[in-house]
Amino acid sequence: MSAEKNILAGLVMGSKSDWDAMSAAHELLKEFGVPHECRVLSAHRTPGPLADWVESAEAQGAEVFIAGAGLAAALPGVVASITTKPVLGVPLAGGALNGQDALYAIVQMPPGIPVGTLSIGKGGAVNAALLAVAILANKYPEYAKKLAEYRAAQAKNVLDIELPGA
Ligand code: RP5
Repeated sequence: MSAEKNILAGLVMGSKSDWDAMSAAHELLKEFGVPHECRVLSAHRTPGPLADWVESAEAQGAEVFIAGAGLAAALPGVVASITTKPVLGVPLAGGALNGQDALYAIVQMPPGIPVGTLSIGKGGAVNAALLAVAILANKYPEYAKKLAEYRAAQAKNVLDIELPGA
């Protein structure tokens, strides 16, 4: 029997300490009405449950994954090793190297197993969610429409700026 299809995206992070940044991706997916599941699962600490979750998220309908991790950030790469769906990796700040370690870990995937790598921290999480919406928008016109509206609102905010004293 096939699993019920009830999500379009899977959002995973290596630790609860990552939620501060990764909740921005969750909020954006919520804003766009993208059904998704959020989990804390670690490539190093819980490899078995991570693999089970990726497979189950895919069976439930996930068409794109967002994975955020800090330090020796193996999580996005491991997710990408399990699924052929697009995986977007968000390097998170933490530890002595302030996210540069995670950035290098995530961006340096060996040829053959790609991870789309975003910038460090909350901005990267927001852009990962926007890219996930853009991927879904290729198939679902409602997301294409919402993305166009989001861009138009963003442009209006810039064009409406009045500089004090200028
Ligand atoms: C990584 O180690 C996690 O993604 C997190 O960014 C970092 C620290 O984890 P905690 O020690 O806060 O659980 O695996």
